[in-house]
Amino acid sequence: MERPLIIALDLDDATKRKSLLDQFNGESLYVKVGMELFYREGRQVIHELKESGHHIFLDLKLHDIPNTVQRTMKELASLEVDIVNVHAAGGKKMMSAAREGLEQGTHAGSKRPTLIAVTQLTSTDEETMQSELLIQQPLNEVVRTYASFAKESGVDGVVCSAKEVPLIHDACGSNFYTVCPGIRRVEDAVGDQKRIVTPKQARELGSWGIVVGRSITSAKDPYSVYHQMKKDWEAKI
Ligand code: C5P
Repeated sequence: MERPLIIALDLDDATKRKSLLDQFNGESLYVKVGMELFYREGRQVIHELKESGHHIFLDLKLHDIPNTVQRTMKELASLEVDIVNVHAAGGKKMMSAAREGLEQGTHAGSKRPTLIAVTQLTSTDEETMQSELLIQQPLNEVVRTYASFAKESGVDGVVCSAKEVPLIHDACGSNFYTVCPGIRRVEDAVGDQKRIVTPKQARELGSWGIVVGRSITSAKDPYSVYHQMKKDWEAKI
């Protein structure tokens, strides 16, 4: 799929999720299933979303010892979702193990899920990274290096702030996927995100995909906000 706008289904119960998706009248969407939803409803929700024709980014951000990540990715591959992810902070061995697990778990004739890595969460700014994670390099340098390590480990792309896309393309080439949360319209509340841009700015910066949660899920009219943001995202630049 070309440059998706991915809706983060961060809703606290199944009724709210269903009523959100019902508003789209069978339109095929790209949705992000995060920890909240997957830990509540498990594999069943993936089957339901796939049956309804939606593409799925399963955002579980694995970060564990390589063996556990490999075995878990093998399990996740059998769900036949489109994108899965790990934290690059887990290191190169862990990222390679994730890729291996995905290959082992992908059924013959099916497409292996795209594997992406989180460099730094978009809710983390440089001050927090330095004072709480004790990583002293500049944030951009950390993102660039983590992205290069991800690529060396067989990862297909990264989750990153749209503002980091140019430096990631510079380090890893323009075919390296960049999936960008931290997206807001000018009129939206920022919430806990720290490094935000609009869909149009994300496009101009070269993002491959964007992830939008609360701007759509908390809107009075999610359908029209989605289409407004999609139009902004897809506009010629
Ligand atoms: O509501 P909002 O648009 O801020 O939602 C962003 C979504 O993207 C959330 O589901 C969040 O977990 C996810 N995400 C993020 N930053 C990352 C990786 C994922 O905000 N680096």
